[in-house]
Amino acid sequence: MCGIMGYIGERAAVPVLLDGLRRLEYRGYDSAGVAVVEDGAIAVRKSAGKLSQLVKVVEQIPLSGDIGIGHTRWATHGHPSDENAHPHADCRERVVVIHNGIIENFLSLKEELLARGHRFRSDTDTEVLAHLIEEAYRGDLAAAVEQAVAQASGAYALVVLSADEPDKIVAVRRISPLIVGLGQNEILLASDIPALLPHTRDVIVIEDGELAVLTRGGVAISRIGGGPVDRLPMRVTWDAAAAEKGGFAHFMLKEIHEQPRALQETMMGRLPSDEEIALDGVALGPESARRLSKVWIVACGTAYHAALVGRTLLEQLARIPTEVDLGSEFRYRSPLVSGGALAVAVSQSGETADTLAAAREARARGARALAVVNVVGSTLAREAEDVLYTRAGPEIAVCSTKAYLTQLAALAMLATALGQARGTIAPPRVSALIQGLRALPAKAQAVLSLEPAIIALAERLQRTEDAFFIGRGLDYPLAMEGSLKLKEISYVHSEALAAGELKHGTLALVVPGVVVVALGTQPALIEKTVSNVQQVGARGAEVVGVATESTAPVLAPHVDELITVPAIDPLLAPVLAAIPLQLLAYHMARLRGHDVDQPRNLAKSVTVE
Ligand code: F6R
Repeated sequence: MCGIMGYIGERAAVPVLLDGLRRLEYRGYDSAGVAVVEDGAIAVRKSAGKLSQLVKVVEQIPLSGDIGIGHTRWATHGHPSDENAHPHADCRERVVVIHNGIIENFLSLKEELLARGHRFRSDTDTEVLAHLIEEAYRGDLAAAVEQAVAQASGAYALVVLSADEPDKIVAVRRISPLIVGLGQNEILLASDIPALLPHTRDVIVIEDGELAVLTRGGVAISRIGGGPVDRLPMRVTWDAAAAEKGGFAHFMLKEIHEQPRALQETMMGRLPSDEEIALDGVALGPESARRLSKVWIVACGTAYHAALVGRTLLEQLARIPTEVDLGSEFRYRSPLVSGGALAVAVSQSGETADTLAAAREARARGARALAVVNVVGSTLAREAEDVLYTRAGPEIAVCSTKAYLTQLAALAMLATALGQARGTIAPPRVSALIQGLRALPAKAQAVLSLEPAIIALAERLQRTEDAFFIGRGLDYPLAMEGSLKLKEISYVHSEALAAGELKHGTLALVVPGVVVVALGTQPALIEKTVSNVQQVGARGAEVVGVATESTAPVLAPHVDELITVPAIDPLLAPVLAAIPLQLLAYHMARLRGHDVDQPRNLAKSVTVE
C-alpha cells in the first residue's frame, strides 16, 4: 500500500512532492511525510492524518531543496502516528527511506539490528531498511541499497535519499509499482502515472527486481545483481485533466458520469461489424478457444462481482464450465487447474496482491492467464499471456464504479467472442449481443438522467441503518455489488442475498422499516423474485425495486419505489442496473456527511495480502 513520490531537478521539491502525494492519496491516507536535502543534511517533515495535516506542518516549518522524496501511508505495521509516518531514517539521520509494500522478515531483521546497537524510532517494518542501508554503506548508495534489499523478503517499492550523496535518489522495486517520469531538466518518481502527468508524459516503468538511480543527468536502471538495463521511455496519452475532478463534487460522482464514455472506450475498435469481435491483446485464437476445458476467474471485491457476472456469460454463451474464486481464497483449496484451462484475472489496478497471487497460482498449475485490467503496464497486465484492457481511464475514487461497468462490458465481449469461436452461439445471437453492447453507452447516459429521482430516494432513506439487496440469476451478483457500494461509503450495514435464500434464515431480520433493494432485471426470473419481494413486503420492509422496461410492469405493483432502466438484453442488464445503485450509495454517503472518495479504513489498491 502507500503512495510514493520523488523529485530531482531545478524547482523547489516540496510543492512538487505534495502535489504528487495529493494525486496518490487514494493509495493510503493515514499519514504522510516528505524529506529533502537541505544544506547538506536531510530534513524531514511528517504527520499522522491526511495530507492536509502535512501541508500545515510544512507551512509552519518550511523546507527548501530541489531534491526530495514523499510518502502517503496506509498502515500495515504500526498504527498511524507521526513516528510511524514515512520517511524513516537510519541512526545517524544520513539516510531516509520511503516504502510501499511489506517486509515480511522485518521482525528477525529488527532483532538482529537491535542486537548490533541500532536505535529504532518507529514500529514499522520499513525502518529496518534504513538501518540495513546504514550498515551496508561504503560510499556507494546504490550498492548499499542493493545489499540491504538482498536481506529483505516481501514486497517493496523502496526509495532512498542520502545526505552523503545529495544529488541522487535510489529506487528499487520488487512487486510494488514504481514509475520514473522524465521532465524538462528534472526527473520524477511515483507509484503511478497520473501523479506524473502534470510534469511529463514520458515515463519508464521500473520492472520487478530492478534498481534505478536518479541523478540530475538522468536515470540509470539496472537489474539487482545484474547489469544495466536499456529501456526507452513510453509516451502516455492520458489527458492530465482526466485525473482531476472536472467540476464534480467528488471523483466518485465524476467517475459515475464518465461511464457512458468509458463504455465507449472499452468497445472502441473491438466491434468492427455486427458479425465480428476483435479483442486486441488477446492472442488466444479460435483453435485454442475451442480446446478450452475450463475457465477460472479470480478477482477481489467489486472485480469479483464482475467476475460472477462473467461466469454466467461464459457458461451461457461459450458453454465453458467456469468457476469464480476470490483472489484471497483460490490458493488455499488446492484448485484442480489443469493445462487447457484459462485463468481470467479481473482487476482495476492490476496490482491487487491477492488477485496477482491467484493468477500466478493458476499459471503455475498450467493455465493460460488472461488479464481483464484497467491500468496499462500494471503487474497483472505484464504477467498475463493475454490482456484485455478495460480502458476506463484513471479511477481515483476508492469506491469502484466505471472500472466495474467496463469489466462487465469486457467480459461480455470476451464471452461472445469465445462463444462465436466455439460455435456455441448462432450468428443472429452474436449480432444481437454486439448490437446490445453498442447500445450500452447511450442507454447508460439515459440511466444517469434518473439521478434527481435517486437523490430524492437517498434523502428519504438517509437515516437507514440496515439494508438488504436481493436478486436471482445475474441480479444476485448485482445485489452484491449494490450492497458493497452502499456499505463501503455510507457505512450503512448492508447484506446481499440470493433472493431465494431469504427464507432460509435472513428473513428473521426483516422487520418494519428495514430497506430491501430488489433487483429484478431478468425476465425469466422476475415472477420468482416478486414472490420474495412479497415476503419482505408482508413483514413491513420498505422495498425499492430496480427493473428494466421489460420487467418493470411485473415488479411495480409490489414495491414502494421503482427505478426503471432502459430495455436491454438480459445478459447485459447488470451494466445499466448498477448505475442507480452507485448513485444511491453516493448520495446516501454524501447526505450522511462522509468522505466519499476516501472511505475510512480503505485504500484504492490493496497491494498486501
Ligand atoms: C470496491 C472496490 C474494491 C476493489 C478491490 C479489487 O468499490 O473498489 O472492492 O474492487 O479491492 O481491486 P482491483 O480491481 O484493483 O483488483
